[in-house]
Amino acid sequence: MKAIILAGGSGTRLYPVTQAINKHFLPIYNKPMIYYPLSLAMLLNIKDIVLVINPEDEEVFKKIFKDGSMLGINISYVIQDHPNGLAEGIILSKDYIDGPFMYLLGDNILYGHNVWQVLEEAKEDIIKNGGAYVFGYAVKDPHRFGIVEFDEKNNVLSIEEKPKNPKSHFAAIGIYFFDEKAIDIASNTKPSHRGELEITSLLEEYLKTKKLKVKLLGRGYAWFDAGTHDSFLEAGEFVATIEKRTGLMIGCLEEIAYKNGWISKEELIKIAKKLSKTDYGKYLMEEVVNAF
Ligand code: G1P
Repeated sequence: MKAIILAGGSGTRLYPVTQAINKHFLPIYNKPMIYYPLSLAMLLNIKDIVLVINPEDEEVFKKIFKDGSMLGINISYVIQDHPNGLAEGIILSKDYIDGPFMYLLGDNILYGHNVWQVLEEAKEDIIKNGGAYVFGYAVKDPHRFGIVEFDEKNNVLSIEEKPKNPKSHFAAIGIYFFDEKAIDIASNTKPSHRGELEITSLLEEYLKTKKLKVKLLGRGYAWFDAGTHDSFLEAGEFVATIEKRTGLMIGCLEEIAYKNGWISKEELIKIAKKLSKTDYGKYLMEEVVNAF
């Protein structure tokens, strides 16, 4: 399975910070924002990653990740010329899609004990049965998100983008699984009143054919959409708190690559040595190399 991460957009809600820098490079505590969704895909053993990016950010993304080989993964880049909406990322990535895929928004941070298992179950189901998956997370401010309504058997009843009168308080977080039909369905989706191809319009099409499924993320998980000043700050504080309490990092890409067996101990030591003056490098050496 491949993962497509949407890392373009204009980041208007983080202005003026994002005037000259793409939000996905901004630090959530001690790592660029983009590390967190990428780490989730890697935790699901997904090695083929497509980053959908703005043309002006190509150089910086390539400076950070190159082709991904230093992490034992393959990164391809797809350029989104205009911020035409979240569903457009799927259409633009069509040459890379060869089956069911994971779709992640680059500003989403999800954390919790064994959270990968919930995602893995959805991944397996999509591979076997097709359709689309969303993940519901209880929020206090449902008018800010895509909201999913479901019955007692978790059958999806509705999905609405930023509803004025929300039918539930479960946000569909920015992590999805789709079968490959999503390309055609997204291509036939009409732009919303704000002129964008909304992810929710695509999900509504799946709902019409009863192919939209939901899994709920319970109380034990933390989810942030770091696309506003407040949630950006909260996400950073959360990561800092957990990392300082436990001594374990969230979203450390080299650690995941090593534990997945994608890079060797020698390769990891080489990276750690290069970064030995930083906390990140010290962590890799002390907590990862020496512990495993
Ligand atoms: C987007 C989606 C929305 C989803 C949210 C999750 O909203 O349109 O359905 O709930 O991401 O992060 P945006 O952040 O672009 O307003």
